[in-house]
Amino acid sequence: MKAVRIHEYGGTEVIRYEVTPIPEIDQDEVLIKVVATAFNPVDAAIRMGALKNIFPHQMPYIPNVEASGVIESIGGAVTNFKPGDPVFVFLDMTKDGAAAEYVVTKAENAALAPKSIDLQDAGAIPVGALTAWQGLFDHGKLQEGQRVLITAAAGGVGSYGVQLAKWKGAHVIGTASEASFPLLQGLGIDQIIDYKHEAVEEKVSEKLDLILNLAPEGPAELNKWLPLLKEGGIFVSTTSPADAELANRSGVQTIRMFVGRNAGQLTQIAALVDEGRIKPVITERVKLDDLALIHNKSQAGKIRGKVLINLDWRQ
Ligand SMILES: NC(=O)c1ccc[n+]([C@@H]2O[C@H](COP(=O)([O-])OP(=O)(O)OC[C@H]3O[C@@H](n4cnc5c(N)ncnc54)[C@H](OP(=O)(O)O)[C@@H]3O)[C@@H](O)[C@H]2O)c1
Repeated sequence: MKAVRIHEYGGTEVIRYEVTPIPEIDQDEVLIKVVATAFNPVDAAIRMGALKNIFPHQMPYIPNVEASGVIESIGGAVTNFKPGDPVFVFLDMTKDGAAAEYVVTKAENAALAPKSIDLQDAGAIPVGALTAWQGLFDHGKLQEGQRVLITAAAGGVGSYGVQLAKWKGAHVIGTASEASFPLLQGLGIDQIIDYKHEAVEEKVSEKLDLILNLAPEGPAELNKWLPLLKEGGIFVSTTSPADAELANRSGVQTIRMFVGRNAGQLTQIAALVDEGRIKPVITERVKLDDLALIHNKSQAGKIRGKVLINLDWRQ
């Protein structure tokens, strides 16, 4: 099969296009013929070696941690899928990924893809939507009528976060730069703070129940936002943590979260897509040949929403 392979950590020059054997599956695994994958900032961090202690890889490895596709074959112990099923999946980040014609996953990680959108677009859902879901609901305990601030609201995670929080019935404030305002207004956001020209702590007029931080801010900036939370409020960050002691003194909780694979949540997310409640915000569609270009664009801070990487063999 055609695949991107990385033989050593480094700059985008380590992204190579090769031909490798189609992987074999174990009893509890499925082989997926990939229709699409999508870019995540973690792909660049893994490629650079910045996460080698957390997600160790045997070299060479195939990048990309999410996919949509069609089940090609199933292991002997798999009962939840059959060949031909359309699925989407957040993959094990220590194993070979989806920048290839085929990818293997444990069957328990995959879920049936939403029916109402093209299977390609489902490839841009798993990581962003699961991170937003777990940040808002599992860690953040967001309830109807509550007030939430989502930073980097126009990004690959934030664009799901805004939609999921609105679906829950929350009042949603987001940070973004001006070029992202139309995208966020289209998702029904209640207030936008222009992080390039405005101070968050001056623009939030009523106390918040939850902050979901997705922005690449350091602790000094994050600590300034802790007093925006009500007593008992929750600060969840996917990037840097806020100061736990300071949070304690303000009577709020801080959590640094790491997204987990969860096929049950993917199934709930697929249902919300099919009910028209949420959708992937795909701002760019590229081919696998453009992977290095997208890594560079992300590092230059020029990505919003999700970039879909199309491997569609059905056309
Ligand atoms: N811990 C975990 O499990 C986990 C899981 C998923 C993601 N993450 C991390 O969470 C972060 C967000 O992920 P993502 O996929 O959404 O990234 P992304 O798509 O690359 O985010 C791009 C967005 O970030 C916004 N942005 C950049 N700097 C900002 C700032 N200072 N304040 C507010 N917004 C800013 C940009 O907004 P504008 O375009 O409006 O300027 C852009 O829309 C990344 O650092 C990622 O590595 C962690």
